[in-house]
Amino acid sequence: MKAVTPIIALLATAEATCGIPSTGTTKLREEAGKKGILIGSGAINPTYLDDPRFAAVLAEQFNSLSPENELKWSFIHPTEGSFTWETIDRLVDFAEAHGMMVKGHGLISSCCNPDYLLSITDPTAFRAAMAAHFEAVMHRYEGRVDRWDVVTEALKTQGGGLQANDFYNVLGPSYVEEAFRIARAAVPDAKLFISDNLVESLPGKRQDLYDLVSGLVANSVPIDGVALQMHITEVPPTPGVITDMVNAYRELGLEVAISEMDVHTLNTTLQADIYGAVISEALSAGITDITFWGFTDKHAYTWLPGAKPLLFDENYRAKAAFYATHTALTDFVRAP
Ligand SMILES: *[C@@H]1O[C@H](CO)[C@@H](O)[C@H](O)[C@H]1NC(C)=O
Repeated sequence: MKAVTPIIALLATAEATCGIPSTGTTKLREEAGKKGILIGSGAINPTYLDDPRFAAVLAEQFNSLSPENELKWSFIHPTEGSFTWETIDRLVDFAEAHGMMVKGHGLISSCCNPDYLLSITDPTAFRAAMAAHFEAVMHRYEGRVDRWDVVTEALKTQGGGLQANDFYNVLGPSYVEEAFRIARAAVPDAKLFISDNLVESLPGKRQDLYDLVSGLVANSVPIDGVALQMHITEVPPTPGVITDMVNAYRELGLEVAISEMDVHTLNTTLQADIYGAVISEALSAGITDITFWGFTDKHAYTWLPGAKPLLFDENYRAKAAFYATHTALTDFVRAP
């Protein structure tokens, strides 16, 4: 029998006591915390916390979380004036108990809008419904949710302008600006983001987003940042693109975050390379808020059959993608 080295024995003990496989490394949140970086997991459906191993890895590795769909309008506010607070309360309580930040995702999205809202066709009444919804939700978590995705996926998926969602249909293009004003009025201290996808890979959509956001800034709309969802399929962003976006938005006085990263490919080497490259470039560019769209393949969604897009496998074992991310964090030296 091979002699067991003390470190391996220690790791084995840790595994036996908390029931989750050890990564054999420091925690992501430990490395991130030293450098003032938020490293988060989104897509947290509160029912996942019923699994003690899920809860343990989440709290151990990440210093931020955000919900999956439970904060979207029809989930939290299904009929006018009636709210299902328990789900988000549970997430916020969990985060507080473990010293984690919470991102509110998402106040406005194309999906998940309740019938009572969709029945309103008068713009004034529709605006009032938006204000009532934002105020109720944002006030409840004031001081406990530090940042919000106010508008999610405003642009057409492949680019080409605003998509005609439920808000656009009643208020026209100014719904984006109105949403940010209502959100700032409701909660002055939280950071407000616009979140969109594919801009890192589609130059036309990248320009659309910049045009939209720079227009907001020119109109003194209260917005703090741009959240790049960063759902990647097979092909990584061209090196330099993330940096260019960060610099362009910085000139507007805005920050850039990564808000829903996952990497969909069957090639685990490529997957790890993409995680490492994106996180390295993001950190070097000055991004300090990085969230993945979940962390375990046990609860992953993919559009590429067979792909396992996240950092941990179904049994909470760290994958090559985890180690590439960990290395990117440890190697990063923040500019003085
Ligand atoms: C997987 O990705 C790596 C890194 O890009 C590449 O070298 C390798 O050829 C790929 N494997 C397959 C089977 O495509």
